[in-house]
Amino acid sequence: MNRREWLGATALSCMSWQGLADAQAPTSLDALARASGRRFGFAVSPAYADKAPVAGLLRQHAGVITAENAMKWRHIQTVFGGRDYTDADKVMALAASLKADFRGHTLAWHQSTPAYLSVVSSEQFIRAQTAHLQALVSRYQGRIHTWDVLNEAIEVNQSMGSSLRDSVLSKLWGVERYPALFELARAADPQAKLAYSDYGMEQDEPWCERRRRAVLLLLEPWVKRMVPVDVMGLQAHLDLSHRFSATKLLAFFDELQAFGLTIQITELDVRDSTSTGSLAERDSAVAALYQDFVDACLSHPAVEMMVLWNVTDADTWINRWGQGPRRADGQPMRPTLFDEQGQPKRAFEAVAASLRHTKVRFDKKAENNV
Ligand code: XIL
Repeated sequence: MNRREWLGATALSCMSWQGLADAQAPTSLDALARASGRRFGFAVSPAYADKAPVAGLLRQHAGVITAENAMKWRHIQTVFGGRDYTDADKVMALAASLKADFRGHTLAWHQSTPAYLSVVSSEQFIRAQTAHLQALVSRYQGRIHTWDVLNEAIEVNQSMGSSLRDSVLSKLWGVERYPALFELARAADPQAKLAYSDYGMEQDEPWCERRRRAVLLLLEPWVKRMVPVDVMGLQAHLDLSHRFSATKLLAFFDELQAFGLTIQITELDVRDSTSTGSLAERDSAVAALYQDFVDACLSHPAVEMMVLWNVTDADTWINRWGQGPRRADGQPMRPTLFDEQGQPKRAFEAVAASLRHTKVRFDKKAENNV
């Protein structure tokens, strides 16, 4: 063997060792996402985040943590005047121990307003919402990657014809004061990105199209007036019973990007309330929708982050929450990447493959934007 042959053979054996190491190294979804300049993570609650299998899965895959409920107003302020941040602090400490970015969720949401505040005067409500927002944002100032400032302000199925949701927030805070929420948040933590977030815009159904239009109508004047909104958060609670069109989703992303916004997928899961067949067939159908959706998202440079709502099929809110659809056969749904024991399902492979094959975002100006 001459020198050149020896070098070639050595290089080949190094490569195959490296290849073997890659094949054996456990996949980390966040590491795969980082390779394309993005972040990947999960919403969690202290009730299960530190127990197997969730704790191990978070250690392996989470680069972003958000609090499923712990930072909601109703959770912090259970009694008038008192504030309890114990759970919020726990989720924050977990994120710190994982060296994960933190998504704050959510400063103003009609469903998380303390019940006793639905009967006060507008003046009292404005005072209470302002105090809550300032206290919460200041408490974690400098440690939040993005705050969901306003959540779910649109509603297109109301009889009154408006595309803004009629709620305790619209009535007592006032829709004309929605931009003030962003201004207050920016003042309390100038480093955090600020998001408007909502659901039902991801799939190819007429009501999703109406919701996409309604969100653009809401955001356009804010962007023109320089309201400090940086991010559109798409919850992405997908459903197998709805159609999906990558073309329509990407056209919407282009419109958001033209507003100067980045996009975060904030609560991804896939409901399988209507799919039939064996568990394997159901899991394949769920995986196929994950793949189509994640492929589309990752093909767009404005998409910077992807967060799944909960971790496994054992802790998913979809089977805990009383209000959503249920399967006719009474079986629990299987909407996450991991089964009830925390084992990766086909959806995991689909998402990992999608992340692995994605292009780096912002090819031309990566250093400035990622
Ligand atoms: C859900 C939680 O997962 C449940 O535990 C809670 O009972 C209700 O809220 N959109 C959101 C999230 O913005 O805050 C919701 O979280 C799910 C829908």
